[in-house]
Amino acid sequence: MIDLHNHIVRYVVPVHRTEPDIEVAVQMARMSAEDGVRIIVSTPHLRPQLLEDDLPRVVDLMREGVDRLNEVLRERGVDVEVVHGAEIEITPDVAELAAQGVLPTLGDSNHLMIELPMASYAAYAEQALFELQLAGFTPVIAHYERAASSPAAEAEPEDLVRRGIKLQVNCESLIGKRGRPVARLAQRLVREDLVAALGSDAHDLHDRVPGLTACRRAVDRAGGRGAFERLTWDAPLKLIGRA
Ligand SMILES: [Fe+2]
Repeated sequence: MIDLHNHIVRYVVPVHRTEPDIEVAVQMARMSAEDGVRIIVSTPHLRPQLLEDDLPRVVDLMREGVDRLNEVLRERGVDVEVVHGAEIEITPDVAELAAQGVLPTLGDSNHLMIELPMASYAAYAEQALFELQLAGFTPVIAHYERAASSPAAEAEPEDLVRRGIKLQVNCESLIGKRGRPVARLAQRLVREDLVAALGSDAHDLHDRVPGLTACRRAVDRAGGRGAFERLTWDAPLKLIGRA
């Protein structure tokens, strides 16, 4: 399987408030491997507006973290490959930054994982997504089922998908860990074939954990036979530019 959304790299390099601890990263990768994950896409939070001039340095650090983690996993015999990416908070100039080549795409493809604002109103979000597409990038909206409660996400998921925008859904949402309305929306997205990939959105070893099989039944029930395989391999393989 491919886990399209995972915060593992925060335990390798200081890209977040979390204290790096390579042993936690190795454990997270091991849990993923035991669950059947072969490729983890590293998607740490990236907030261009907050970082300003520090952005290129932090992106370099994220890539170093991925390289370092792959080395350690090889040494330890953990059969998981980690690829570079980020969960990029949307900003009005996100397309400009993408065009400059500063933002990490998913597996060095032309797909960018974009986080919509959860609380505050962002009138520019629609426009920024469109500009990204004009610049030759495909936005993949991180856990759309959660972003859907945001006033920024006024567009219907059908419209977004029709316009070529991809939607990623979190496993934990499908099994009700984010409440009933989020679970219902996540299941509807699977049922109506609007989902491009699943992610664990793993943050740690205890609460928001790695792995995808926890939502297998929920995906099968909503999407029918083959849906889980499609959403955990065939579809995300394209998003990381390998198919
Ligand atoms: Fe995330």
